[in-house]
Amino acid sequence: SKRSITVIPGDGIGPSIIDAALQILDHAGCDFHYDYADAGLMALEKHGELLPQATLDLIAKNKITLKGPLTTPVGGGFTSINVSLRKLFNLYANVRPVVSFEGTKSRFENIDIITIRENTEGMYSGAGQKRSDDNASAEAMSIITREGAERIVVFAYELARNEGRKKVTIVHKANILKSTSGLFLDVAREVAKRYPDIETNEMIVDAACMNLVMYPERFDVIVTTNLFGDILSDLCAGLVGGLGMAPGANIGKDVAIFEAVHGSAPDIAGQNIANPCSVILASIQMLEHLGMQDKARQIREAVRKTIAEGKTVTRDLGGTASTTEFTQAIIANL
Ligand code: NAI
Ligand code: MG
Repeated sequence: SKRSITVIPGDGIGPSIIDAALQILDHAGCDFHYDYADAGLMALEKHGELLPQATLDLIAKNKITLKGPLTTPVGGGFTSINVSLRKLFNLYANVRPVVSFEGTKSRFENIDIITIRENTEGMYSGAGQKRSDDNASAEAMSIITREGAERIVVFAYELARNEGRKKVTIVHKANILKSTSGLFLDVAREVAKRYPDIETNEMIVDAACMNLVMYPERFDVIVTTNLFGDILSDLCAGLVGGLGMAPGANIGKDVAIFEAVHGSAPDIAGQNIANPCSVILASIQMLEHLGMQDKARQIREAVRKTIAEGKTVTRDLGGTASTTEFTQAIIANL
């Protein structure tokens, strides 16, 4: 029987780029069954809640989800749906690869960096949020646990080993954030000792920003805490042609959710001009996670070829093609 995948089309540009990715999976002969589920603004309008129970049930049932970006309404006390999903399913590892494609408008070639972002703790723990009544002060709690730090760093080294990568860079701010970043760095150093076959580097986050922009080719795998990972992964997207080229996987023990790094892009929604590569590359991560390496390679090659030809690409890549035309060109190259 066919493998079932939960599909959340999402908000804004989500439905159009998710549709592009599914068409490509189908044309590549992946033979999945798709269970569609609502989340985000669309779910709020249809069902009165951002994250309906039926959606959570489908995510849990199929274990694998391909998800479009979700709009979290500003105000009204809504917590981010993405943060909720990551916490509910304990999706502790956020894996964000960026790879250069010839033909994008990026300043660099040969970039191949994976940022492994801790996805449940740190500044995004959500704990202790408060603001004084007179708005004179605000506070929030950053939480790092030994267990949380250890599992993400182990994840990064295991990934490096499995993918034949050479170097892990631990990014931190232990000189200033002595308790939280300090514990993260201590644990990371302990874990690093267990992987003598992998080169380990340490870098303070501000220096990492400068080095990523000046010498991105020096980076291989980056492992870091939640907030730093969020920011550095967008920086990395900028090294390879922008958010339209940046996928991400949220991985837990049982459940995994594959998505674009970017949001619902309300400024270009409904215009059929979004770059679908972010979710197409996320679906490639999904295939690799499922052990379907041949299909993953086949689709990646079609994307590579289409961008290198440069005739039929979206605006963010310097072309004039619509989302639909770009998708058709990739399918023709499959
Ligand atoms: P955004 O990531 O949606 O857009 C930033 C800029 O990048 C915009 O100019 C947009 O047009 C462009 N862009 C993004 N994806 C693109 C693509 N595939 N092709 C071409 N251009 C692309 O960030 P923004 O505007 O700050 O957030 C909009 C909404 O998305 C918010 O409601 C936010 O909460 C949500 N969001 C959701 C995320 C998720 O579901 N994982 C992640 C980040 C934001
Ligand atoms: Mg982000």
